[in-house]
Amino acid sequence: MKRILCIGAGYVGGPTMAVIADQCPDLTVTVVDINAQRIAAWNSDKLPIYEPGLEAVVRRCRGRNLFYSTDIPGAIKAADIIFVSVNTPTKTFGAGAGKAADLQYLEKTARSILEHADSDKIVVEKSTLPVRTAQALSRVLHSNTRGLKFRIVSNPEFLAEGTAIEDLLHPDRVLIGGMEESAIEEVAQIYAHWVPRERIITTNLWSSELTKLVSNALLAQRISSVNSISALCEKTGANIDEVTRAAGRDSRIGPKFLKAGIGFGGSCFKKDILNLVYLCEHYGLPEVAAYWEQVVRMNDFQARRFVGTMLSAMFNTVADKKIAILGFAFKADTGDTRESPAIAVCRQLLEERARIRIHDPQALDNARIDLKDAAGDITYCEDPYEAVAGAHALVIMTDWKNFRDLDYERIFERMEKPAFLFDGRNLLDPEKLFRIGFHVYPIGQKPLTHF
Ligand code: UDX
Ligand code: UDX
Repeated sequence: MKRILCIGAGYVGGPTMAVIADQCPDLTVTVVDINAQRIAAWNSDKLPIYEPGLEAVVRRCRGRNLFYSTDIPGAIKAADIIFVSVNTPTKTFGAGAGKAADLQYLEKTARSILEHADSDKIVVEKSTLPVRTAQALSRVLHSNTRGLKFRIVSNPEFLAEGTAIEDLLHPDRVLIGGMEESAIEEVAQIYAHWVPRERIITTNLWSSELTKLVSNALLAQRISSVNSISALCEKTGANIDEVTRAAGRDSRIGPKFLKAGIGFGGSCFKKDILNLVYLCEHYGLPEVAAYWEQVVRMNDFQARRFVGTMLSAMFNTVADKKIAILGFAFKADTGDTRESPAIAVCRQLLEERARIRIHDPQALDNARIDLKDAAGDITYCEDPYEAVAGAHALVIMTDWKNFRDLDYERIFERMEKPAFLFDGRNLLDPEKLFRIGFHVYPIGQKPLTHF
C-alpha cells in the first residue's frame, strides 16, 4: 500500500487529503500539522473548518485509510509521497515585505523532511509558491549527505472554499509539473482514480508554479474589472448586473466570475497577485508589476467606495448609529474570514464611531478574532433579527443565500427610520425592499430612495 503524507492540515490540505483517501482505498493517507489543536479537531466531531460535504467524507475514511497525527517524524519516515500544504503568507518584514511570499514555513518543512527521511521520497508542492521555489526546495533537500533522492513535483490546488469537495471531485483540470516523468506519473496515478486522464495536465515545474499564480490573478482581475465598471454604472444610470449578464453572453467572455460586489477576499487572491507583482519587480519588469498591482488597488478602492456611499447616504455621519452587518465571511458557505472585505468595512465604520452589530451563520468566531484589537461598540449576534433591532442601516457583506429568505417586513419594522439598506453583494431584490420602505443602495445601480 502506497503511503501518502500531507504536511499542513488547513483549508487546502484537509479537504484534499480527505477526498484522496475516499477515492483511493488502496492508499494510506496521513495528515500532520504542527498545530496539535488542529489535529485534535480533525479527529473530533467538530472539524476545524466548515466545508459543505466534508464531514461525510471524513467520517467515511477516518481510521480506515485516513489518519490525522502529530507524529511528524514518524509520518515522514513512513511516507512515499509527501504533499506540502503549509501556509505561505505575504511577508510582513524585511525585503519584499507586503508583497513577497514568506517561505519560512515551507523551508522549515523541507528541513524537517530532510531530518527524518531515511528513504527516497517524492515531495509535492501543494502550497501556492513563487516560481522557482522548487529549486530552493530541491537545494535544501539535496543538502543531505546520506545520498537520499527527492523528486519534486508541483501540484497546485484550484479548489475554492465553500465548494471544495465538489471542486476536488470534479476538477476542470489537475495540474502536475515536474522534472522527472516518473514522479509526475506517480502523482497523476493518484488523481487518475477518479479524474479522467484528459483532465490531468502535465507541464514543466516552472509553468505549473506560475499557472497557479496566473489563474488566481486572472480570476481576481475579472472581479476588479467588473467592480471598476460598477462605479461608472452608479454615475451613468447603467446597471452592472445587466451589463455583465449581457457581456458574459459572449462565449469568449463567459458568464462566470463577473459578479460585482464589495470586492474579493479569501486567503489567495491578494496574496498571490502581490506575489506575482513582486516576481515581476524582481525580474526587472516594473510595467508588468504595476499592471497587476492595480487589480489589488481597485479592490481596496471598492471597499472604501462602499463605505463612502454609506456615509453620504446617511447625511455624512454614522457616529453613534447602529449598523447591522449581515455576513462577515469572505464569501458564502464558509466560516473563513481571511482578507474578507467585511474586516476593512467594519474597521472604517468603527473609526467613524458607528456601533456595529455583526451576524454571520458560520464566521462569528473568526470575526471576533479579526476585530479583537478594534476599539468601539461591537456586538456579535447569532440571530440576524437581533442584529437589526434598532439599527439605522443594514449592510449585506456576504452572499449567504439564506439572507434572501429573511423576513424583511419584520426587519424594517424593527429598524430606526429612515431605514437604509446597503447591499454589498447585489443579493436582494432592490425593488421589493424599496416597496417595503427601505432606502436601497445596491452596487453599480441607481439607488432606490424615498427622498
Ligand atoms: C495554504 C496556503 O495559504 C496556500 O497558499 C496554499 O495554496 C495552500 O496552503 P490553507 O490550507 O488555506 O492554504 O492554509 P492554512 O489553513 O493556514 O493551513 C496551513 C496549515 O499548515 C496550518 O494548519 C498550519 O498549522 C500548518 N503548518 C504550518 C505546519 O504544519 N507546519 C508549518 O511549518 C507551518
Ligand atoms: C480562489 C480560487 O477560485 C481558487 O481556484 C483558488 O484555489 C483559491 O482562490 P476562494 O478564495 O476559495 O478560491 O474563493 P472564490 O470563489 O474564488 O472567491 C474569491 C472572492 O471573490 C470572494 O470574496 C468572492 O465573494 C469574490 N467574488 C467571486 C466576487 O466578488 N465576484 C465573483 O463573480 C466571484
